[in-house]
Amino acid sequence: YTEEEQTEDYLFKIVLVGDSAVGKSNLLARFARDEFYPNSKSTIGVEFQTQKMDINGKEVKAQICDTAGQERFRAVTSAYYRGAVGALLVYDISRRQTFDSIGRWLNELHTHSDMSVVTILVGNKSDLKDAREISTAEGNTLAEAQGLFFIETSALDSSNVAAAFQTVVRDIY
Ligand code: GTP
Ligand code: MG
Repeated sequence: YTEEEQTEDYLFKIVLVGDSAVGKSNLLARFARDEFYPNSKSTIGVEFQTQKMDINGKEVKAQICDTAGQERFRAVTSAYYRGAVGALLVYDISRRQTFDSIGRWLNELHTHSDMSVVTILVGNKSDLKDAREISTAEGNTLAEAQGLFFIETSALDSSNVAAAFQTVVRDIY
């Protein structure tokens, strides 16, 4: 095998899950391409992206599966949870309703994937300081209760975006 082919040994499937408009597609765009879309369109079904990552000096590949948050795609998207070894469970720190949905997304994830899927709770849009409805402490408390990693991110200003993905992949690896 060449060096390139060997990286295929480490292809991890990671899913992005959470309510519509919490910023899942923008987290992926920021992580994979360092891009941000102020007026991005809602995802239809599922989109895939393969991303190389450096974990402890080793190159690993993650297949990141960006799912639609809209209710009408639920049956389609949940089919893609199968085989996932990692998940980012995303809410928007400026919208309480998206935080209240986390329990439901977690159920969905556990119904359609392995219980051992490494999951991080992600409070996105940390740049929206004046509009914050969920404190960092509240996010942390939920994560601890559910045995999840926890991080707050901003796809807009880039903060903690790479760290969110790396936390999951490093734990799997
Ligand atoms: P669905 O595909 O419908 O499930 O939505 P999504 O979770 O993929 O959300 P998307 O990434 O499309 O972002 C929704 C809106 O939030 C867009 O207008 C983004 O520009 C905006 N947005 C995403 N991330 C951030 C962020 O970190 N900060 C701010 N201020 N806005 C963000
Ligand atoms: Mg999307």
